[in-house]
Amino acid sequence: MPAWQRNLAQLQICPPTDSARFGLHEQWLLPVSPAPLAHGPSTQGLQASKPLCVFVAGATGYIGHHVARELVSRGHEVVCLVRECSGVAGAVDLETTRQRLSGCEVRVGDITDWNSLDQEGFKGKTFDAVVSCLASRSGGISDSLAIDYRANRLLLDAALAGGVGQFVLLSAICVQKPQLAFQRAKQRIEQELMASGLCYSIVRPTAFFKSLAGQVESVKRGKPFTIFAGTQATCKPIGEADLAKFMANCLQDPALQNAVLSIGGPGDAVTLEDCGRMLFELLGRKPVFRRVPVFMFSLIIPILSALGFVLPRFRDMAEFARIGRYYATESMLLLDPSTGMYDAAATPSFGRQTLRDFYERVLEYGLEGQELGDHALFDASVKIQDR
Ligand SMILES: NC(=O)c1ccc[n+]([C@@H]2O[C@H](COP(=O)([O-])OP(=O)(O)OC[C@H]3O[C@@H](n4cnc5c(N)ncnc54)[C@H](OP(=O)(O)O)[C@@H]3O)[C@@H](O)[C@H]2O)c1
Repeated sequence: MPAWQRNLAQLQICPPTDSARFGLHEQWLLPVSPAPLAHGPSTQGLQASKPLCVFVAGATGYIGHHVARELVSRGHEVVCLVRECSGVAGAVDLETTRQRLSGCEVRVGDITDWNSLDQEGFKGKTFDAVVSCLASRSGGISDSLAIDYRANRLLLDAALAGGVGQFVLLSAICVQKPQLAFQRAKQRIEQELMASGLCYSIVRPTAFFKSLAGQVESVKRGKPFTIFAGTQATCKPIGEADLAKFMANCLQDPALQNAVLSIGGPGDAVTLEDCGRMLFELLGRKPVFRRVPVFMFSLIIPILSALGFVLPRFRDMAEFARIGRYYATESMLLLDPSTGMYDAAATPSFGRQTLRDFYERVLEYGLEGQELGDHALFDASVKIQDR
């Protein structure tokens, strides 16, 4: 049995809880037995009705800034460690970051450096919880290791050293079937967090709305919608604000603690073709698709991999092609370890915003704030480096 299946098989079903009030059903929660205590950190977690002091890492990211703002709106004290220049391609200056994170204490430092994390990040505060929305911006091999694993590992060490009560980690549902560098990096930090003895919530979302937004502008301009021929990869996308609420709930609801939580949005699971049809319907036009054969990845990947032995930059290009193939062929749904099949009905739903609401909004107001960057899941025509 492969490692990812063994890991899933170890997961147990959570007893019924009051989590239904968050739109969750108990069979969707996959808690793991708390690991043995290492040096006395708490596996009890928080049942916050009082304001907490929370350190948010990755607060300048797409999900991270929604999480930081959600926590502030709930009355928590939020500290974020950010870079001078943040955002996609470092295009956001500090002043803008401070405005976006208004209500948070914004500190400047390097989250990949222990001294900076210790001196700028954690200095002078005793944090109740750490929430990490850190992620490699490129999905490249070494950057994934550096951010998705090492930076999160430093953060975990800082949390353990600082007596933090709880750690909420933003991961991804695709970690259940890891084949890519960033998935293996995430899987490793997930396992180390579970073994740390700290109370944890590992949140594994399905696709984000922004990952399905890469073709909105081109379709609006009259171009066809590109899909992959011969694949029915499906997802249950979730909106950024709903995901932020779910992550904030992890600090308050014991049912979401010491648990691996796969989570999708409301509504039916959709294929890329469904997304295209929805867009054309909203635009009042007849659907026009361009079908790209998935096997193109099987041609490109060996060539780029071979070039990667000689020229290192081709290694990441081969990885981006593997990422493209993965998202073209694998569903972002809960995987049933006993059958190896994806299960849309078993994939938890949370929140209110549907993909249709999202498309209506971006068709009317544009993609402002969506920071697509390299994220254009299923958008084979434009980029394949989605993560
Ligand atoms: N796209 C999807 O559909 C999808 C679905 C499920 C799960 N996920 C997962 O969700 C996670 C977060 O996604 P997201 O879109 O919110 O990510 P994002 O917008 O790319 O944000 C990444 C965050 O990490 C920080 N970061 C990256 N490299 C850094 C470095 N070298 N030093 C310091 N900070 C660094 C960024 O800071 P800067 O702003 O300074 O760069 C930013 O705050 C990812 O792990 C992804 O795999 C994505």
